[in-house]
Amino acid sequence: MSTADATRNPFLEGNLAPVRDEVTITDLNVTGLLPEELDGRYLRNGPNPIGEVNAAKYHWFTGHGMVHGIRLRDGRAEWYRNRWVRNPEVSRALGEDAKPSDWPADHPTFAANTNVIGYAGKTFAIVEAGSPPVELSYDLDTIKVSNLEGTLPYAFSAHPKKDPQTGELHVMTYWWGWGNKVQYLVVDASGQVRKAVDIDVQGGPMIHDIAFTEKYVLVFDLPCVFNLDAAMGGSSLPYYWDHEYDARVGLLPREGTAADVKWVSIDPCYIFHPMNAYDDGDDVVLDAARHPKMFDRERRGPSEGDPTLDRWRLNPLTGKSSTTRVCDRPQEFPRINESLIGLPYRYGYSAGVGKQFAQDTLIKVDHHSGAITARSDQPRFGYGEPVFIPRENSQQEDDGYVMALRHDTSSNTSDLAVFDAQALDADPVAVVHLPVRVPNGFHGNWVPDTTA
Ligand SMILES: [Fe+2]
Repeated sequence: MSTADATRNPFLEGNLAPVRDEVTITDLNVTGLLPEELDGRYLRNGPNPIGEVNAAKYHWFTGHGMVHGIRLRDGRAEWYRNRWVRNPEVSRALGEDAKPSDWPADHPTFAANTNVIGYAGKTFAIVEAGSPPVELSYDLDTIKVSNLEGTLPYAFSAHPKKDPQTGELHVMTYWWGWGNKVQYLVVDASGQVRKAVDIDVQGGPMIHDIAFTEKYVLVFDLPCVFNLDAAMGGSSLPYYWDHEYDARVGLLPREGTAADVKWVSIDPCYIFHPMNAYDDGDDVVLDAARHPKMFDRERRGPSEGDPTLDRWRLNPLTGKSSTTRVCDRPQEFPRINESLIGLPYRYGYSAGVGKQFAQDTLIKVDHHSGAITARSDQPRFGYGEPVFIPRENSQQEDDGYVMALRHDTSSNTSDLAVFDAQALDADPVAVVHLPVRVPNGFHGNWVPDTTA
């Protein structure tokens, strides 16, 4: 199968020119008024390759991880830091001793470059496909490669999702060595795995994220699957589109076993990120950024057609589904008020994406009215993933802040923009100016000190 254009990598050229230095910058310049209740760190992870890469082969998902952090307190932006996430390869490249690992030496520990979370008092850089979490210090230095105090069976995920009602993390994991099987984990509030369920699937699907409702956990068994020939041929990310593979979503009862999974067929597509899911009678409603395909013609990054925000109704009794389009503006990285994960909700936030996943607009969706607010500051600014932070004692779902890193093309620096989520069209409440550029990357989170 051919690659659309083997001579260039638009993701690397356009989005991921890496930064070369680790810096610590204190007392950042702030425009506007940073809400004093924002006491914690905004953290973001993304690929930032050390050294030269082969642009014809480089896959956007595989670059060495770099975590960026901005510390806010008392209306001030105290510091910005960026640090490579140390795995053995990164340590070697930087001329350092390898960091400790809780795993045997033959356990895969590739770039933890996709997400960074605060959980159970610790900070973790995380990735999928078999590589374990990397524990970071508050200041983002690598502490060790973690096995969650000896409780993680093997693989973790870049998208553990916290149940707002129990405080536990729900995690869907995969690893090519398991064959036709994926593993669902529940991590308790102390940070230890309390439950693992092995689930049979059709092949070796790339399962990037998870969704759950009050009744079910969703298993995305979709046609982007492990390709042994590609792996043997040296592909750095051997997961390709399989035209013969049935697209389906498994509904695993929350306290059920693998034998209880109800499979629901959906039209072929790929989903990296659900916005949310919830129960509605017998049905499960799923909202997600839908890609028409993934890694079919282009195997170096997502570029198989525009991702749209779609809604599925999944019926576990009939095994059938229906779909409607919520918003056809190309978008990704959907987020919500996370106190409503798994529950009926009204508002979603996402990053509009342009050609080759270029950072673009900031989007708010009102599922009740159908209103779409799309804030564009092009061509000067493009926005990364928006994070919603509820205001203290808020009563309304969208009473809070939307925080996003953006790249200022006029100065080739980045800033952290904080908006009133109810007034996304208005000027930002505050902007934290960084004297450096943060390359486009993947996922970020606000980690308040009260819960870190
Ligand atoms: Fe993701």
